[in-house]
Amino acid sequence: MRRHRPVTVFSATPHPDVWARYPGRVIGLGGMGLLVSAAMWLALTWATAGISPDMVPWYVVRAAGLVAYVLLWISVTLGLWISGGWTPRANAQLVALHEFASLVALSMTFLHVITLRADAYLQPSWIQIWVPLAMTTYRPLAVAAGQIGFYLMVAVVLSFYVRRWIGARVWRGLHAITFLLYGLVLVHAVAAGTESATPVWQGIYLVTGGSVLVLTYLRLAIGRSGRGRTR
Ligand code: HEM
Repeated sequence: MRRHRPVTVFSATPHPDVWARYPGRVIGLGGMGLLVSAAMWLALTWATAGISPDMVPWYVVRAAGLVAYVLLWISVTLGLWISGGWTPRANAQLVALHEFASLVALSMTFLHVITLRADAYLQPSWIQIWVPLAMTTYRPLAVAAGQIGFYLMVAVVLSFYVRRWIGARVWRGLHAITFLLYGLVLVHAVAAGTESATPVWQGIYLVTGGSVLVLTYLRLAIGRSGRGRTR
């Protein structure tokens, strides 16, 4: 019987085996990058139509925050499907997509946060931006939820790359904080954001937050199926 060499999914450099084995994935990931760029471009075009230049950073802050949130949600739901073993096969591709989504989410969050410095209305200092509760001039608790969420996001994303050294158990423990970080980011987006006053974004937050709750419940209640395991 033909035997397949197991695919190395976690390594210090992001999955060299997987890249070589699944060239089709490049198209998928490239498409996702294009999608994100298109979303940013659309948001900027929409945002800059007829507004004064000093408001542009505010729109970029918001567009980047919204894209980061959606990508974080995609990554969290994919992670739940993968860890539950509910995927039919080809788990390596989903794992790669899961990691890629979280990396782009982190980059978008970075843009969200850095651009905030140029916000003409809030004019926050770097201390106010990076230190939880330091932004006393604008919804400090809601902003602190985002700040803590950001630090947890950095820890979880970095853990992909150091799994070999920290071991599977510590890595899983670290990964479990994803639920806390997702919850914090959702609270942050709803309580600090301008868009949460619109029915469209209220619907998006409801559907995305609800789906993570349901999947987490299923993951805990049903546990893990034997299919599609990678770890
Ligand atoms: C250092 C960390 C962070 C800071 C200082 C920060 C700051 C802010 C501020 C001041 C707002 C209000 C913008 C407005 O509508 O006027 C905001 C909104 C938002 N943030 Fe953050 N944020 C941080 C982290 C994050 C993270 C980690 C995410 C997602 C992954 C995120 C996603 C969002 C979203 C979706 C909104 C709502 C945008 C809107 O409704 O227009 N933020 N953030």
